[in-house]
Amino acid sequence: MLIAQISDLHIQADGKHKELIQAERHLTTCIQALNRLAPRPDLVVITGDLTERGRRQEYMTLKPLLAELDMPYLLIPGNHDSPAMLREVFHEHAYLQRGPASDSPFIQYVIDDWPLRIVALDTTIPMRSEGGLCAERLQWLSDTLAQAPEAPTLILMHHPPFQTGIREMDELGLLTGREAFAGIIAPYHNIERILCGHLHRTMLCRVGPTVASTCPGTAHQIVLDLKPDAQALSFNFEPPGYQLHWQGAHGLVTHHAVIGEFPGPHPF
Ligand SMILES: [Fe+2]
Repeated sequence: MLIAQISDLHIQADGKHKELIQAERHLTTCIQALNRLAPRPDLVVITGDLTERGRRQEYMTLKPLLAELDMPYLLIPGNHDSPAMLREVFHEHAYLQRGPASDSPFIQYVIDDWPLRIVALDTTIPMRSEGGLCAERLQWLSDTLAQAPEAPTLILMHHPPFQTGIREMDELGLLTGREAFAGIIAPYHNIERILCGHLHRTMLCRVGPTVASTCPGTAHQIVLDLKPDAQALSFNFEPPGYQLHWQGAHGLVTHHAVIGEFPGPHPF
């Protein structure tokens, strides 16, 4: 199985950075790059911050852009999203209607249709930038993993379950439920990867029995600044990218790819 991951699209209806970031143009370029891939990914997973403010207009802008993908895609919300508005605009995505309980505001789902079982968690907290996992969502994770302890599994979640070293993002990280999450996954050696967004750049970290990773943004990136006293979060236009998670003989291999026109890469 071949899975493409993109993240943090930040489609924006208005605002002072809309023209600067040009999120729609960048997403279109990204989708064109994914559609040119051979072999074609079986699936695209999009790990949150689909929009900048979770507005209907932003999801209505996003939807026809994603319709250009030649392969199916799965969505999860990030802290910039509105799970309720996402459900409403992408109403035909039946999996988005599921949650840890039937009336839950959170979007959590499991999909068993692929060689890799996909377990999606909602780490958002309404009106907050930091993430968290409450008892309801953690119990659902525990129950869901117990249903298929041998199946190769991917967990999708926007906020990564590890400290990144980028100070301001760690202050907006998964601040509640992280230790409980680690305890729940600890016995499971079938979790191939925990795929995350939020950080707008590639990172890897061992988390218990598996590896957690973050994905670049499709438009703007977060500056790599590991100073413990870094004053303010800043963004830049390092090349955007995506990841390809390829299931081979030795497990899941993650490839990082950049998007755009450069002097290279080209064969020589
Ligand atoms: Fe983001």
